[in-house]
Amino acid sequence: MTELLPFMTKEDIDKKVSALARRISADYENRDLVIIGVLKGSFIFLSDLVRRLTIPVQIDFVGASSYGSGVSSSGSIRLTKEIGVDVKGKDVLLVDDIIDTGLTLAYLVDHIKSFGPKSVRICIFLDKKERRKTALMIDYTCQVVESGFLVGYGLDYAENYRNLPEIYQLKL
Ligand code: IMP
Ligand code: MG
Repeated sequence: MTELLPFMTKEDIDKKVSALARRISADYENRDLVIIGVLKGSFIFLSDLVRRLTIPVQIDFVGASSYGSGVSSSGSIRLTKEIGVDVKGKDVLLVDDIIDTGLTLAYLVDHIKSFGPKSVRICIFLDKKERRKTALMIDYTCQVVESGFLVGYGLDYAENYRNLPEIYQLKL
């Protein structure tokens, strides 16, 4: 039977997202910031984060798919939605729910750089270390996680649990 073990409360999430929003607002003051969320997992974190920013920002989404419907990476990444705003000469912040191997984000950073932005940084809600296969620098994160499979707050298991307001560790 699938079991959900509490991992992060709503209060903890709120506190960490607010602190991160303050940092990003300070770092990008008087810049031309475009936030690009990675679909679908980033949608809840991104919507909480951008509502706490105190600076002007443009928002877009990019679609990438690396996993099938399970918990292990398929290794190959597919672009499922292209960006729609012009990022040339702008500061881009790529936002995702979680980084695992890093293959998805490494691919997306390269892809976005091909449009000539001024800078590209990475903002990840959960930084999962155990299976990292790339040397990507994570500029902003709310929580480091050693291992395990997390669901809720946008994170899914076979498209389930994204709507849970808290984060849980999945026990299969
Ligand atoms: P990566 O390319 O291995 O870094 O995989 C990144 C993507 O895999 C994330 O955007 C998630 O969609 C998914 N993923 C990785 N770990 C988890 C997890 O613990 N829970 C839910 N999704 C995960
Ligand atoms: Mg995802």
